[in-house]
Amino acid sequence: MSVIAEHAPDVKITIVDINAARIEAWKSDNLPIYEPGLKDVVEKVRGKNLFFSTDVEGAIREADIVFVAVNTPTKTFGQGAGMASDLQYWEKTARNILAVSDRSKIIVEKSTLPVRTAEAMASILNSNDKGIHFEILSNPEFLAEGTAIRDLEEPDRVLIGSAQTPEGLAACREVVDLYARWVPREKILTTNLWSSELTKLTSNAFLAQRISSINSISALCEKTGADVSEVAKVMGQDQRIGPHFLKASVGFGGSCFRKDVLNLAYLCEHYGLHEVACYWKSVVDMNEWQEKRFVLRMLENMFNTIASKRIAVFGFAFKADTGDTRESPAYYVVKELLAERAHPVITDPKAIPEAKKDLADVLDQVEFTEDPYEAAKGAHAIALCTEWKDFKALNWKKIYEGMEKPAFVFDGRNLLDAGKLKRLGFQVFQIGK
Ligand code: UGA
Repeated sequence: MSVIAEHAPDVKITIVDINAARIEAWKSDNLPIYEPGLKDVVEKVRGKNLFFSTDVEGAIREADIVFVAVNTPTKTFGQGAGMASDLQYWEKTARNILAVSDRSKIIVEKSTLPVRTAEAMASILNSNDKGIHFEILSNPEFLAEGTAIRDLEEPDRVLIGSAQTPEGLAACREVVDLYARWVPREKILTTNLWSSELTKLTSNAFLAQRISSINSISALCEKTGADVSEVAKVMGQDQRIGPHFLKASVGFGGSCFRKDVLNLAYLCEHYGLHEVACYWKSVVDMNEWQEKRFVLRMLENMFNTIASKRIAVFGFAFKADTGDTRESPAYYVVKELLAERAHPVITDPKAIPEAKKDLADVLDQVEFTEDPYEAAKGAHAIALCTEWKDFKALNWKKIYEGMEKPAFVFDGRNLLDAGKLKRLGFQVFQIGK
């Protein structure tokens, strides 16, 4: 919304949330999330045409277009628990929009939703006797955390799905015109509603599938002496395969991949496509196996016991350049280390506050420090879980000197120069090597 506000100074955008603390943070100097470049954009437009408020009803009443970006987590109860999307926040929002509106509006689905959600929303919103009409559009977001501003400023594509009726197409044109202020027209793609909803799920599923595919090959590389980075590099030169998203790792994390792939599998089951569901579910299974394998490899190489050993966990965010820790492989690693009665010490440049919240139930068994040298001091091993560039630039000689010997590095992101570390005396293990 900040980026839209930046490019459309004549459009007034009000961001509302029921969480007052969050809204206050958005109004302050300390934004509630870390995202490179975001603060500059917010500061440029805040108070001009971008406003933050807790007056949800007032903002809905005033708006011509409502973007709904409430969360759609994996359902934790009842039918579809652990796989389906929990749509209760979306439905409550739809009912709220209906209750307070006194004129027709365009409602834009920004949240990631199961295919055909718009149908349910349309029937809730248009079941009114106020004589007003709501046109529902789907405009899924493709930005990735850590590169969000760049992804929004120069998107590969913007997708807008609408009903193929005159009203649906007219609403679609309004939102196309909004993006067209800075996105070249040929990159703004329009489809029917269901294609748009499904494209978001399948885009994430394909990305996650690439990581699980290369991670599965990483296991084979470790057995055979092939090097997964070399394999991926050469494969990626084939234009049909492409070089991106082929980095073997300790596993993928983040709030989207696991949730969306499981949701896709659930939808397939719902439509009786059991084999298709199994195919996609295996992407998540492979990810869990990869995380497990990482800790097992640590254990095996550290003489099958890590009990009471200090282990420095380098990085807790699910990827570099974010403070977000949702579904982070580091969380799984720490939990497994604790199950082995090791003593994890977590270091991360941005994610310590979130890590403390995630590990609230085991705070007495874990240490946190922003200083990686302190984390590694007296440690038997380093488990590198996040590819923060800062880690690469550390003085590894100094780190080696402070550690117990033999000093192990398990590089879950293939970030470090293994040759250099080995020359310093480290025992180095990388993914797929
Ligand atoms: C992902 C998609 O990339 C976005 O296009 C999408 O809009 C977003 O989900 C969403 O649905 O909101 P995000 O979760 O922010 O974005 O992060 P990614 O860059 O996709 O990374 C996901 C995980 O995969 C991270 O843990 C990352 O470290 C890992 N990864 C990524 C690998 O292990 N190997 C790779 O080659 C690439």
